[in-house]
Amino acid sequence: MQRYNPFEKLNIQKPDPIILGIESSCDETAAAVIRGRKILSDEIASSATLQAEYGGVVPELASRAHTDEIARVVERAVKNAGITYQDIDAVAVTYGAGLLGALLVGVSFAKAFAYALNKPLIAVNHIRGHLAAAYLDEPTLCPPFVTLLASGGHTAILHAKSEGDFEILGATLDDAAGEAFDKVARVLGLSYPGGPHIERCAREGEPIVPMPKMLKGGGGYNFSYSGLKTAVINYCHTKEQKKEDYSKADVACSFQKAAVDVLVEKTVSAAKEKGVSTVTAGGGVAANGYLRESLEKACQAQGLRLVLPPKRYCTDNAAMIASEGLVQYRLGNFASMDLTAKASIPLAATLQTVQSRMQKEK
Ligand code: KG4
Ligand code: ZN
Repeated sequence: MQRYNPFEKLNIQKPDPIILGIESSCDETAAAVIRGRKILSDEIASSATLQAEYGGVVPELASRAHTDEIARVVERAVKNAGITYQDIDAVAVTYGAGLLGALLVGVSFAKAFAYALNKPLIAVNHIRGHLAAAYLDEPTLCPPFVTLLASGGHTAILHAKSEGDFEILGATLDDAAGEAFDKVARVLGLSYPGGPHIERCAREGEPIVPMPKMLKGGGGYNFSYSGLKTAVINYCHTKEQKKEDYSKADVACSFQKAAVDVLVEKTVSAAKEKGVSTVTAGGGVAANGYLRESLEKACQAQGLRLVLPPKRYCTDNAAMIASEGLVQYRLGNFASMDLTAKASIPLAATLQTVQSRMQKEK
């Protein structure tokens, strides 16, 4: 039986390969199957409720939950896709960044699974997965486009020049947008993850609490969240010290508006400057209803096509990992059996193509 040699460029290109994606970087154990860009199945088992009482993700709890769930979740994904294990053309797995113990569960499972079935393995960077979510069920989307990446760990505006090749146009100078949502939620006594709770709370409020400038006109395409977060904390603490009432809904609404408007404004300006006709977005914060509506309006006003993944594919899932797996499959980038998990990967390294990384390493 011929084994795939991961050090060679494989010539196993099919027009619409079936890719199994596996994701375990945080508290979601997920598996999905795609055929080309079409989603055949998408399974998630979350340990979030288990973690909720701790106010965040406890790494050890997440790893144990992944170990308990992963075989079942993969089995369900394959069954619900209506395929057999042998139909799979490649196994794509998140190798980083994320919680090391959690990632190791997915990587070890994917390696054993790919080896046992003699299928090629694809190493997927989690953030590249968020960016590839826009391709799901969108057969006509192709670069160049400008994309807004807004997750719990990263916030940046990128220029996708070709499939798998990104240029950073701007990024947060400090906290990520998701991190700011989570921290502000904690100050307002809302539970983790904060984004969806802030969004819900904001619906009852008005944007009347003064918020600091978010490098709106200046700073190129960069922005900063630490000042905004501190302003919210100071506002709430001052009110509490003075024993004055304040509306949490107004704070949530004002914060959300300040946090989102800058992203929308800069993303659309970047698209105009780069002369692209399409804008996409990805990452957990792209599930935010206010951000989605604002981006929709701004793109419409500028005559730009907006491709937003459905909310479910903005937060962590395995279909996006399979989608980036498809990008890597087409580029011929396969992983070897010594693949291991990586807790952190700098954004610049994340966005380099494997080819340009290999050229630099030569
Ligand atoms: O992309 P993601 O699922 O995980 C990574 O960081 O990779 O993003 C999680 C972040 C959390 O900070 C969460 O609060 C935020 O996305 N988030 C939201 C919403 N849903 C999730 N932020 C604002 N509005 C939402 N609806
Ligand atoms: Zn994520």
